[in-house]
Amino acid sequence: MATIGNNVQRAAELLRNGEAVAIPTETVYGLAANAFDEAAVLKIFSIKQRPSFDPLIVHVARKEDVRRVVRELPPGAEALMEAFWPGPLTLVLPKHAAVPDLVTSGLDTVGVRMPDHPLTRQLLEDLEFPLAAPSANPFGYVSPTTAQHVADQLGDKVPYILDGGACSVGVESTIVGWDSGHWHLYRPGGIALEAIEAVIGRVEPAVKHVLPVAPGMLASHYAPKKPVHVGDVPALLRRFAGRAVGVISFRTEYPGHRCEVLSESGDLAEAARHLFAVLRDMDTSDCAVIVAEEFPNEGLGRAINDRLRRAAAAR
Ligand code: TXA
Ligand code: MG
Repeated sequence: MATIGNNVQRAAELLRNGEAVAIPTETVYGLAANAFDEAAVLKIFSIKQRPSFDPLIVHVARKEDVRRVVRELPPGAEALMEAFWPGPLTLVLPKHAAVPDLVTSGLDTVGVRMPDHPLTRQLLEDLEFPLAAPSANPFGYVSPTTAQHVADQLGDKVPYILDGGACSVGVESTIVGWDSGHWHLYRPGGIALEAIEAVIGRVEPAVKHVLPVAPGMLASHYAPKKPVHVGDVPALLRRFAGRAVGVISFRTEYPGHRCEVLSESGDLAEAARHLFAVLRDMDTSDCAVIVAEEFPNEGLGRAINDRLRRAAAAR
């Protein structure tokens, strides 16, 4: 079983020895390995049972380290790094030859971000190499937002889980990429689209020809084992009358049902922070069906709706 602890030196030692280690970030926990070591990166794919067509995000210690993994910076890239790094924004940019093809699934681009979590920043600063890290969950399942979530599912497969507490953002990074002269949104996430557009102007929807793309972009992903339905909750409650239903709502209580209100005060960032833990709890509870409201499609609400929609698409 994995050791859970907050010993950065221990994590660094394992990573230098080519092991995969679970690390905290402000978004979700990642399963990290030396991004320049193909054998180490292979362990990530095998532990997660992740298909090799799904590229990994590379995590760097400092803004200037982007040059170690990226060949050129398109217009706007530096402004985005200045505005949002460290933080939950991943940039998909032309890949440097030093990055193994395994990391990028053979794409000519690489996803890179500078995470904002004190333990992982210290770890990255200690290391001589950047860390490739997907979310630390079995492929297709809900991402972990605590060390215990990682231990529950991957505990027998990773030697060490660096425990940095509960993630402060709670949904994955926003991914934007430069393609054919424009910025595109590949995945809504922890930085609001509105904030990004305030820095670089209009961001286009993802283009299909950049496939294979983010399983972040696969219709079914981020999915609990139980069926999830999103929409008009009173109508869904009528439809599932007589069954044990768990309700995920923004701020409304549904008396007579097991209900998790994600933010009583109506704060979308707070709602995002709680979303994955609530999905996990409901998945292991005795409810048979999970129903969820549609959230306001603004700010972090976009990421919440995206994850709920993909969870609902699972069956
Ligand atoms: O917040 C996050 O981004 C977390 C933490 C650990 O940093 N990581 C994360 O990784 O969510 P993962 O692998 O679960 O999702 C990353 C997404 C994948 O769906 C992948 O396909 C996409 O990023 N991605 C990575 N490189 C890409 C590229 N070159 N082009 C298009 N999509 C890319
Ligand atoms: Mg993931």
